[in-house]
Amino acid sequence: MITKCLFPAAGYGTRFLPATKAMPKEMLPILTKPLIQYGVEEAYDAGCCIMATITGRGKRAITDHFDKSYELEHQIQDTSKENLLKEIRDLIKNCTFTYTRQNEMKGLGDAIYKGKSLVGDQEPFAVILADDLCVNPDGDGVLTQMVKLYNKYKCSIVAIMEVPKDQVHKYGVIAGKEIEDGIFMINDMVEKPDNDKAPTNLAIIGRYILTPEIFEIIKQTKPGKNGEIQITDALLTQAKNGMVLGYKFKGKRFDCGSVEGYVEATNYFYNMHK
Ligand code: G1P
Repeated sequence: MITKCLFPAAGYGTRFLPATKAMPKEMLPILTKPLIQYGVEEAYDAGCCIMATITGRGKRAITDHFDKSYELEHQIQDTSKENLLKEIRDLIKNCTFTYTRQNEMKGLGDAIYKGKSLVGDQEPFAVILADDLCVNPDGDGVLTQMVKLYNKYKCSIVAIMEVPKDQVHKYGVIAGKEIEDGIFMINDMVEKPDNDKAPTNLAIIGRYILTPEIFEIIKQTKPGKNGEIQITDALLTQAKNGMVLGYKFKGKRFDCGSVEGYVEATNYFYNMHK
């Protein structure tokens, strides 16, 4: 059973300055809901009830968001606006939110390692990068799809998608043997390769299921791209010692870490909403 989901959320969000000067990028709204809430809802739909966030300085708004606001509750009680809080109230009621801080920016691998104290090292867990906003209007959410796959293969899984060849340098890229339609047994992984050096155009997007052995592997992983501890490098070690799958998910992903992707997501949700 996968019941815990990690949300690395310590990054600065420099691409959204000045908006993110005093506000975490994970709290940027798509319509009326902050990005991180979309991620938490996806994790909840996939069966998770422990939402563990790796935060940093200046991220208190996330903690407050997933807590009761008594003044607000009192203010809107029995008004038509009460309805607007329904989803967040349900999450607060049904999930436990835990937090720890990554006090130095040492990479996604290091952020995930910090999550060990929250998710423990006994069970597999999920990881969602909230700025990759994923939707699947035709069925299961992306994390639900991955949990189903985990139940079959019981190994670490990364979500992947094909990207144009001139975009691969923005992503972790995998290569592997396609063992089922859209499911790859990974034999190579590179973090943000040069476009002409990438093994494929299969890019990792921000959804992972990790088995707890990953913590020991991260501990042994040397700094890689940009001098940071990369989860991509740790996963390559895990793939070489056992098995890691790349899963071409069904649905759509918006890169809400970029202004362009953020606007695209906003338009998409607005049109859905209408
Ligand atoms: C991270 C990962 C990268 C992955 C990407 C997906 O990079 O390191 O492997 O492809 O998320 O969004 P970041 O975008 O945080 O630099």
